[in-house]
Amino acid sequence: MAMWGGRFTEATLSEFREFNDSLSFDYLLAQQDIAASRAWAKGLLQAGIISAAEAKQLDQGLADLAIAIEADPRLPLQTKEEDIHSWVESQLTATLGDVAKKLHTGRSRNDLVATDLRLWTRLQAGTVRKSLLAALAALLEFADKAEQAVMPGFTHLQRAQPVLVAHWALAYVEMFKRDLGRLDDALTRMDSCPLGCGALAGTGVNIDRQVLANELGFSNAALNSLDAVSDRDYLVELSATASLCMTHLSRLSEDVIFFCSGEAGFFKLGDAISSGSSLMPQKKNPDVFELLRGKTGRVLGHLVAILHVLKGLPLAYNKDMQEDKQGFFDLMHSWQQSLLVLATVLPHLSVNREQCRKAAELGYSNATDLADYLVSKGMPFRDAHECAGELVLVASKQQLPLEALSLSQLQQVSGLITDDVYPALTLEAGMARRCALGGTAAEQVMQALADAKSWFEHT
Ligand code: ARG
Repeated sequence: MAMWGGRFTEATLSEFREFNDSLSFDYLLAQQDIAASRAWAKGLLQAGIISAAEAKQLDQGLADLAIAIEADPRLPLQTKEEDIHSWVESQLTATLGDVAKKLHTGRSRNDLVATDLRLWTRLQAGTVRKSLLAALAALLEFADKAEQAVMPGFTHLQRAQPVLVAHWALAYVEMFKRDLGRLDDALTRMDSCPLGCGALAGTGVNIDRQVLANELGFSNAALNSLDAVSDRDYLVELSATASLCMTHLSRLSEDVIFFCSGEAGFFKLGDAISSGSSLMPQKKNPDVFELLRGKTGRVLGHLVAILHVLKGLPLAYNKDMQEDKQGFFDLMHSWQQSLLVLATVLPHLSVNREQCRKAAELGYSNATDLADYLVSKGMPFRDAHECAGELVLVASKQQLPLEALSLSQLQQVSGLITDDVYPALTLEAGMARRCALGGTAAEQVMQALADAKSWFEHT
């Protein structure tokens, strides 16, 4: 039976019910609705609305319901209640009788749903946080295992300058560190409790909302009732954080897919994380990374959807807000699952060091080093760039690397070049020179790895 039948004389249309009801998805909030109700019952006792015996009965009834849900989370789906709030109340009424009808004194489904969803979000964000840390740990482990392996670094997907494989992995560590910071920021900002704000104007029950907030593990009570019942900012913040984090995951996946291609061959997928083709017997596909890239699309879509639901909503609660849940539930699930999958598959990704090194030596990746060499001999950089470019042209016409040109060929372009150019053109020399903070020189990367590990241990 609906919670609001009194002023109605006609039955609701079944088509309307089906469209209006939210139990089919908000049943996931059952534990949160029960927790909020237990806190509210305590508040009603403190406010003198119910007796100690009644409070005890309500608390016991709610605790029993929590156990039943724990055993079978889909229990509410066996009924035809409108939403999870109606379900909890009706179950309680069925077991406790009249006392259960007192529970909704001074509260509304508007402050209740706002509270339930915050509690759910806080819990799920904790799980996402753990998965994000697991992904970070796996990346650090990958960087560690890569040791001094060198690979080509790209700009415009053209070979640019060699980098350490560990440097590549640590780039994503930096991104995920920022994502963690954003997640923590969002959690701090959403740490305020809407319960006790009623439908929109505040509750008529003389309740200490700060105590109520603390009871539910929030630091603060929301300060404005109109805002509290209609604030879904935290969903937007977390959706944006998820979108950015998934974008990082997607870029990493794109890199890995390319690095595992026959064309690159830098990384190798373990059998345990690869799929084959039903037709082509030779195939070994990076489906898991493609799916990570693909999941990013749906997460981004959910961010756009929630923004569209909220834009243009007048204060305070509007039923549009019921549309905040399914997308967000899916977003949190996809985000958490993707991070955990990354953490699980990374140990099955190996580096083909020889192939990486060979590729890093190709494509004139040491042309900048040649220019820098000329600078060290006193030539202004712009001129050095020109000379090195000319030499790339000379070498490429003969399909030779720069270091295979003879000294006289080199000297035709610049008389400043002497024998000491050859050691300057090696991969090692080029890498070692990029030793300012943040560069790919081994000493910098090993320091960055050590710093990241110690940051991780203190997080
Ligand atoms: N199912 C609703 C939602 O998710 C609960 C709040 C309903 N409030 C109301 N005034 N109809 O938003």
